[in-house]
Amino acid sequence: MTTASAEVEAQKQAAAERALELVKPGTIVGLGTGSTARYFIEGLAARVRHGLTVQAVVTSRESRALAEAGGIPITDRADGSLDLAVDGADEIDPAVNCVKGRGGALLREKIVAHASRRFVLIADESKLVGRLGRGPVPIEVLPFLWQATGRSIESLGGRPELRMAPGGPFKTDNGNLVLDTSFGTVDAALGVALHAIPGVIEHGLFFGMARAAIVGSGTGLRVLGELP
Ligand code: 5RP
Repeated sequence: MTTASAEVEAQKQAAAERALELVKPGTIVGLGTGSTARYFIEGLAARVRHGLTVQAVVTSRESRALAEAGGIPITDRADGSLDLAVDGADEIDPAVNCVKGRGGALLREKIVAHASRRFVLIADESKLVGRLGRGPVPIEVLPFLWQATGRSIESLGGRPELRMAPGGPFKTDNGNLVLDTSFGTVDAALGVALHAIPGVIEHGLFFGMARAAIVGSGTGLRVLGELP
């Protein structure tokens, strides 16, 4: 690992460690997906081994495997409200809106974030942007006539590209496709317009959902928004 990438990993881990302080015993915690969320899951597993009682809802097969390996009890029911969800992000703006889904788990991530009383982002400082839209917005679409769905997305000013994996199109845990779509600039109204397209299952714009972002930086932790 280069010094630069070690520094990024240290930032991710420091953010995850701070988020772990928000976990209350006896609650249901939403576990995100990705390399930053992984530090949170591993840290939670360590606390569970030391006697912390929590249940977790997972946002992907990847997170399920990590949680299971760490001995974190998993539930697929959210009869009580989820207390806290902690997840990474691809871009975070100063108002703690974000773009998510470059790991392909955006649908379940958004369901869990929406169902949680407190949704907190964790990230390294490379994820901070002045304005969302630096990179593409992942959009999960039904495979049926996905090209037509793509044309509807183009009519909103997007340039969709089908996400590929080795051996063919990338499939989400839900069996759907992802169109990584550059828009230039994005806003909450775009999210509403995307939802109106039949065939769009969900998009990676998370406006007004996170209460705070804990961001590792070269000079220590930064908190955007208010830690709940
Ligand atoms: C997965 C996501 C991830 O949280 C996002 O891509 C950030 O990942 P990482 O922490 O690996 O940079 O949205 O769908």
